[in-house]
Amino acid sequence: MPFLDKYKLIVTDAIENYKLTNSPHQLYDPINYILALGGKHLRPIILLMSCDLFDGDIERAIKPALGIEYFHNFSLMHDDIMDKASLRRGKKTVHVKYDENTAILSGDALLVKSFQMYEDLDSHLFKKCFTLFSQTALEVCEGQQYDMNFEKQQEVSYDEYIDMITKKTAVLCACALEMGALLAEAGVEDSKNMYEFGRHLGIAFQLMDDYLDVFGKQETIGKKHAGDIDENKKTILYILAKQKANENQKRKLNHWYAVIEASQDKTNEVLTIFKELDVATSCMELIKHYSDQAKNYLEMVKADTNKKKMFYELIDYLLVRDN
Ligand code: IPE
Ligand code: IPE
Ligand code: MG
Ligand code: MG
Ligand code: MG
Repeated sequence: MPFLDKYKLIVTDAIENYKLTNSPHQLYDPINYILALGGKHLRPIILLMSCDLFDGDIERAIKPALGIEYFHNFSLMHDDIMDKASLRRGKKTVHVKYDENTAILSGDALLVKSFQMYEDLDSHLFKKCFTLFSQTALEVCEGQQYDMNFEKQQEVSYDEYIDMITKKTAVLCACALEMGALLAEAGVEDSKNMYEFGRHLGIAFQLMDDYLDVFGKQETIGKKHAGDIDENKKTILYILAKQKANENQKRKLNHWYAVIEASQDKTNEVLTIFKELDVATSCMELIKHYSDQAKNYLEMVKADTNKKKMFYELIDYLLVRDN
């Protein structure tokens, strides 16, 4: 998608320009390692696009965009420890390549770096952006804690699940889109609609992430196949399966999601139930529902129709992604 390449290049250039070369290298090497693994750079890209949508100064948005990408990578470093994940973007996760203590401390340093990216904003913008960012960062921690709590909880309602993914994933997308608008000094109503657009897009994005964990290809996703089943994650696939299951299937799901050890048997048995109940189709319907809602909020934003078109294309591209 050519317009995405333009923004992606700005982000990759910024990552290179702000590369951390300080000492001790044991602290900074893992940061440079995870950043060099790339990824889609979704969050900084949508921040820049949002700034552009309201005719803002892209230059001014680069460091805040980088701050959000740093925060995202910090959260992945710690998430991979918490999820016992060995593969990220097709390569070893930081705690596997180095060790857990390194991933904790380098993650902490990257979190601090993410906040530093806001230091030189003018004071009126700093106040708005920093307040939004720090509130979002706290919500991400809350979402991650619910995600961990749910590993040990057999009954998780659909609403509890949506609240969990809203916090762990969607609010950062929402924050990126609102911040782009704030940096362009867009009006309050448009900024809030961008936030809501991002929140619904982020929910759809996490639903797709849950789907791909089981139904995507390990080589294209760059993460271990069915890692969520290994860790008893209460993903949308589990929630839907529990809704549709008969007594026998429910009993089996409860049994396997109480087993701590990962095994091929466990993956196969759970996968069989997911397929019997066709949770993949139901999941896709939900993704469509949330992406339609995202589009409704975008619709309400008062901005150039041509520029808005880029966002509609991005939504459709992301939600059929196999990357
Ligand atoms: C992974 O995010 C974590 C989630 C919130 C689903 P991405 O899928 O955006 O990861 P990268 O940055 O592109 O690797
Ligand atoms: C990650 O969710 C959310 C955050 C890192 C805040 P997941 O645990 O589903 O992300 P992946 O699948 O490991 O990328
Ligand atoms: Mg994870
Ligand atoms: Mg996780
Ligand atoms: Mg996941």
